[in-house]
Amino acid sequence: MGLLGEALSRPTVRRALWRAWYPFFSRRIAGRGVDFLNYAYDSLDGTRPVLDACDEPVRHHVQLYAHVVGDAELHGRRVLEVSCGHGGGASWVVRAFGPAAYVGLDLNPEALRHCLSRHRLPGLTFVQGDAQALPFEDASFDVVLNVEASHCYPDFPGFVAEVTRVLRPGGVFLHADLRHASGIPEWVGALAGRQGLRLEVMRLITPEVLRGMEAISTRHEALVRECMPWPLRGLGRDFAGVRGSLPHRALSSGQLDYRSFRLARL
Ligand SMILES: C[S@@+](CC[C@H](N)C(=O)[O-])C[C@H]1O[C@@H](n2cnc3c(N)ncnc32)[C@H](O)[C@@H]1O
Repeated sequence: MGLLGEALSRPTVRRALWRAWYPFFSRRIAGRGVDFLNYAYDSLDGTRPVLDACDEPVRHHVQLYAHVVGDAELHGRRVLEVSCGHGGGASWVVRAFGPAAYVGLDLNPEALRHCLSRHRLPGLTFVQGDAQALPFEDASFDVVLNVEASHCYPDFPGFVAEVTRVLRPGGVFLHADLRHASGIPEWVGALAGRQGLRLEVMRLITPEVLRGMEAISTRHEALVRECMPWPLRGLGRDFAGVRGSLPHRALSSGQLDYRSFRLARL
């Protein structure tokens, strides 16, 4: 594995890297109206949600949220989004489904600043916090949503335990992310084996995510060129998932899987 590989595999090192990277990235793209930080999604059969005109420019990012929500009932419910990023998904879900309350939580203070300045909607609030120590009472939400973020958490089982704790019985956990092929059994095992949760649906959505990435690749290339200093452009391209980047190649070759899940709180 080597010294660098060994260091990177340590939860504390990974946590420190993500903690530093996201605020840095948010600062670099500040003022450009970037409301989504996910790789996007595009269905293979051509079915696409009808969106308001204001959401059309970010359609492929919204489509990932639309897929993860699926037919889950959100209207009138209390929803927590863990790792809401720049809040684009939160804003769309609130406008599309009308939950009673929607709380977006993220560790990155710059993301929170962005959310508070751009997404002002009735019932929508944002808080800073850690996915592995959720600052909420037991059984206080009907739905927990988590999109493309859990690969950053050093303690995934700890996060799932927290989700289970804050969901009320009968509540729903909607989750999507990517993992290296070797990490899939541990990932799925932490979800399927969690006491108090029942895994209802698991879908492999790598092909749809690859289509989404490819659809937005040119725009992301330009964003990286405009916002990242030259020595960090390679890293920026990987982070943005542009065509030919590390994650794009790994998803194309099957080294990485992208999956979505729906779980019920028992
Ligand atoms: C790839 S972004 C996805 C954001 C958003 N869900 C979206 O789709 O646009 C991952 C997010 O996870 C957040 N994150 C990383 N570690 C976290 C933690 N321990 N607790 C809460 N959020 C965390 C980052 O700050 C970042 O906003």
